[in-house]
Amino acid sequence: MRIAVYPGSFDPVTLGHIDIISRSSRLFDKLIVGVLNNSSKIPLFSAQERVNMIEDAVREYPNVEVQSFDGLLVDFARMSHATAVVRGLRAVTDFEYELQMSQTNHIIAPDIDTIFLTTNLNYAYLSSSVVKEVARYGGDISKFVTTLVRDKVLDKYNITAK
Ligand code: PNS
Repeated sequence: MRIAVYPGSFDPVTLGHIDIISRSSRLFDKLIVGVLNNSSKIPLFSAQERVNMIEDAVREYPNVEVQSFDGLLVDFARMSHATAVVRGLRAVTDFEYELQMSQTNHIIAPDIDTIFLTTNLNYAYLSSSVVKEVARYGGDISKFVTTLVRDKVLDKYNITAK
């Protein structure tokens, strides 16, 4: 059984993330979306809230599971019996950080490889930070996230949907 982990902060999950989940779920027997719980950044949503929003968005993919994790990604991958880590690459600006992360992970855990999927062009500009920034100033984020996520983000900022 080929198992992969798709890790991230997902604060919140965007349509770009969901596109990566959908495509990588076809490449592996099982895909575990790993929501980082112990980031140095203070998230808008708790890990459980982020897990719930992703679970809602991936109901149609029977081989996708969502879990939160603490500590090192490679430990989470090993615990999940995964042999691959999936990451999305949007632009050249992502490359340096992603290269450093995948090489570090490969030194610590040579049995785990990182697979990069280039993001769908429709979502190449998209990030969780952009979603929060647009929402915070009252912009419409419905083209960036699911309806549930849009409502949750607006709730956090005490904004009523237009
Ligand atoms: O969505 P993000 O914030 O770009 O995801 C980053 C993530 C969660 C993949 C990365 O921060 C991570 O793996 N954190 C866990 C700690 C770890 O293993 N660090 C070593 C990698 S260099």
